[in-house]
Amino acid sequence: MKKVIMIAAAAAFVLGMNGLTATDSNAAAWKKCAACHNFTDKKKVGPGLGKGANDPGVFGREAGIFKGFKYKFTKYIEPGKGWHWDEAHLREWMCNSKKAVKKFTGNDKAKTKMPPQKICDPAKQDEILAKLKSVS
Ligand code: HEC
Repeated sequence: MKKVIMIAAAAAFVLGMNGLTATDSNAAAWKKCAACHNFTDKKKVGPGLGKGANDPGVFGREAGIFKGFKYKFTKYIEPGKGWHWDEAHLREWMCNSKKAVKKFTGNDKAKTKMPPQKICDPAKQDEILAKLKSVS
């Protein structure tokens, strides 16, 4: 009996893996973000992007306020000069966060822990924006 369960579990695992590879070639653009972000209010490598009991979702949220996350870029935000994550800011951020952080803070020395994602194609950005809105 135990063996049967093991085989069934192994088969389910293999099927699951196939399911993943089958969708990988045309994977949704936001899956790239999922490597470092949860679309919930739980942090991963980066702050959570979705809403939950403790945090609002990132769309429309003030930059750098996710609870319990130690940001790098917030060091460069002058008091009262923060921004909110609207469409325009998010588009620039997913195209090149390294460049965007300098522009948003108005500080050429500003840095962020998030590497540039090079998602600059408006259609791909639209997909991600839709996802972010749906969890905010
Ligand atoms: C390699 C890991 C990694 C990937 C991939 C990544 N991020 Fe990030 N992201 C981070 C980290 C780390 C931070 C925190 C930056 C800091 O502290 O300077 C961050 C911060 C952010 C913030 C700021 C949130 C806030 O609370 O102010 C947004 C918005 C964001 N990421 C969106 C995205 C989107 C959209 C994608 C996909 C296109 C993405 N990230 C892909 C690591 C990543």
